Amino acid sequence: MTGAVVDPWAIPPDWPPPPPEALAHGRRVAAAVGAAIEASGGALPFSAYMELVLHAPGLGYYSAGARKFGPAGDFVTAPELTSLFGQCLANTLAPVVAATGGDVLEIGPGSGRLALDLLQALDALGAPPRRYCLLEPSAELRERQRTLLQERLSPALRARLEWLEGWPASFVGAVVANEVLDAFPVERFRVGAEGIEQACVVQAEGGWRLCFRPAGGRVAAGGRRLAARYRLPPGFVGEWSPALPGWMAGLARALHRGVVVLVDYGLPGPELYRAERTGGSLRCHYRHRVHDEPLLLPGLQDLTADVDFTAVAEAAQRAGLQVAAFVTQAAFLIDAGIEAAFTALAREGPGPGLWQTAQAVRTLLLPGEMGERFQVMGLAKGWEAALPGFRGRSRVEKLAIEEEP
Ligand SMILES: C[S@@+](CC[C@H](N)C(=O)[O-])C[C@H]1O[C@@H](n2cnc3c(N)ncnc32)[C@H](O)[C@@H]1O
Repeated sequence: MTGAVVDPWAIPPDWPPPPPEALAHGRRVAAAVGAAIEASGGALPFSAYMELVLHAPGLGYYSAGARKFGPAGDFVTAPELTSLFGQCLANTLAPVVAATGGDVLEIGPGSGRLALDLLQALDALGAPPRRYCLLEPSAELRERQRTLLQERLSPALRARLEWLEGWPASFVGAVVANEVLDAFPVERFRVGAEGIEQACVVQAEGGWRLCFRPAGGRVAAGGRRLAARYRLPPGFVGEWSPALPGWMAGLARALHRGVVVLVDYGLPGPELYRAERTGGSLRCHYRHRVHDEPLLLPGLQDLTADVDFTAVAEAAQRAGLQVAAFVTQAAFLIDAGIEAAFTALAREGPGPGLWQTAQAVRTLLLPGEMGERFQVMGLAKGWEAALPGFRGRSRVEKLAIEEEP
């Protein structure tokens, strides 16, 4: 079964058109997609399409020059909204850094904004890490991070920065990843009458189509497992992340002792794969327009899907990490001290940024905005103490973790 033909450049008339150099880049990405469709025998699995348009070196959305973050980009993340987010995270991480004498590892640091806020806040708390390690696969983003952090950090803090090429050998301290798991390519599947079907991208006259083909191998097995576990009805479309278990195994091997804080939008599996949510959660972001056409603007728009936090927790446990906490972002930030941080800022006087910060805090906390759509998971190895952010009502039971698949 096939979907409609999509001309990747036919965007709605009220969207800002990409500037000529971005369009030229997009056409190079489209040529690479065309070659990949051909190389795959005419039907490119959706996860391979997503990997290419997001992460192919020098081509993908994250690895090439798209603006991405902030008002002039495509989407806004919490650290781009306000430095209070980093200050709260610092309250969580400081006891770990202080007690272990260890480092901080930030995975997927984006523009570098969270690194800036975290390092300054940890320093202010008297717990600057020995090293602040940044693990960023995109060369373009590594450059952006270097520029921002060189400009804005004191020489003493700058000296603690270290960009890593891969997982560290034996890491002690605190690991943080904000909105990283949602950038992992997903397999898109459908529960068909004859079994599990896999979404693929195929060539068509005037563009590309998304079609569902009978799935085999790991895609069929993954879809069947989810369909049986959550009793998914025929026609249900969903996504899952094939890279997650391997990534988590790498993280668990790297972490000798410490705590991992994962922040992302998503839900526990039983809520994400509810029979009523039949269309999946794949979304696309282009210049603050959120839509559901992943074949548009290859390399120029972000593609993302809700994180299945049950899958994250199970991958973590199987890799040897303890699931220490699972709370909404609102609960996390309130327990980590966002009100005190805002009050301290307000006491400095009603500067021009105060109103904006108040708006940002609302966005971070309101249930319909980021407060409950984002979740925070704490993973631990060799760490027992409760941390600021995680002392409120735990939602771990909502994950319905199973010991074995
Ligand atoms: C949506 S951005 C979030 C950036 C930043 N953490 C923030 O909150 O603004 C996703 C980030 O994750 C990075 N990323 C994607 N896949 C990754 C992976 N497998 N390992 C590490 N980083 C990854 C991207 O290059 C990018 O920096």
